[in-house]
Amino acid sequence: MQEIDYLMESAEEVLRLDVKTESTVVEGQALWAGIRPGMSVADIGFGSGKTSAILHSLVQPGGSVLGVDGSGERTAYATSRYGDRGIRFVSRDIRNSLDDLGRFDFVWVRFVLEYYRAECIEIVQNLSRIVKPGGILCLIDLDHNSLNHFRIPQKLEETLNRIIERLQSRHNFDPYAGRKLYSCLYDLGYQDIDVSVSAHHLIFGELQKKDAFNWMKKIEVIVSRMNDLFDEYDDGFEGFVREFEAFFSDPGRFTYTPVICCRGRRPDSGIQG
Ligand SMILES: C[S@@+](CC[C@H](N)C(=O)[O-])C[C@H]1O[C@@H](n2cnc3c(N)ncnc32)[C@H](O)[C@@H]1O
Repeated sequence: MQEIDYLMESAEEVLRLDVKTESTVVEGQALWAGIRPGMSVADIGFGSGKTSAILHSLVQPGGSVLGVDGSGERTAYATSRYGDRGIRFVSRDIRNSLDDLGRFDFVWVRFVLEYYRAECIEIVQNLSRIVKPGGILCLIDLDHNSLNHFRIPQKLEETLNRIIERLQSRHNFDPYAGRKLYSCLYDLGYQDIDVSVSAHHLIFGELQKKDAFNWMKKIEVIVSRMNDLFDEYDDGFEGFVREFEAFFSDPGRFTYTPVICCRGRRPDSGIQG
């Protein structure tokens, strides 16, 4: 398979995803969505495989998990790390049909749709086709992604806004993916839809190492390519990074991003798309 063109691709992406994935949060989201022992699960865009391992533990005894991700490297990593407990990982582009993978009781996609502003609906339709009638589709993503900060200097806030606009216009990124999830399931005719909103990237007080690593990686991997956006800083990108680090490490700042979880049950018939 041809490798996907993933915005956050870097040699350390597996490490970033491992560090930032909190097991108790993933467990809570999956239990809220209705995961139960014995279910067959598809973990779409599994990243490092950590979420697949958590979902696998929640469907025991008797359940199974298939992880699907577009990166061959992460598929090899997850297989070597979690394959021994019976989780299968496959390398596939979720923009293409997945119908040959079979049908699942619980299909879960977290923090992937944000990378597909243009194709979000088609991807959800694609995933819906691999949900068994009566099965659950759970979509999780961020809203107003990375844009909520207090005590941020005005120049820094304006620069962040320009970065996010650039990500939308040129990189197919959707900082508002979270608010679109409900309508996707509604339009598909899903039943028993429920929505939950909570805080992700909730940062106050002393900066924790995992948050510093995650945000500085995002800046290194994505923002460092946008050289023309830093004209207001005397030394360009370096000046922006310095101001961001100073703001972010101040224990008096407040940062958060809403995470929206949306789940529904696929009807036996009459599905749209
Ligand atoms: C931010 S990570 C999310 C990881 C995990 N779902 C989580 O909740 O932490 C996004 C993952 O989606 C995968 N991905 C992006 N585009 C994809 C595509 N078109 N097909 C399959 N996987 C894709 C990336 O390779 C990456 O591992």
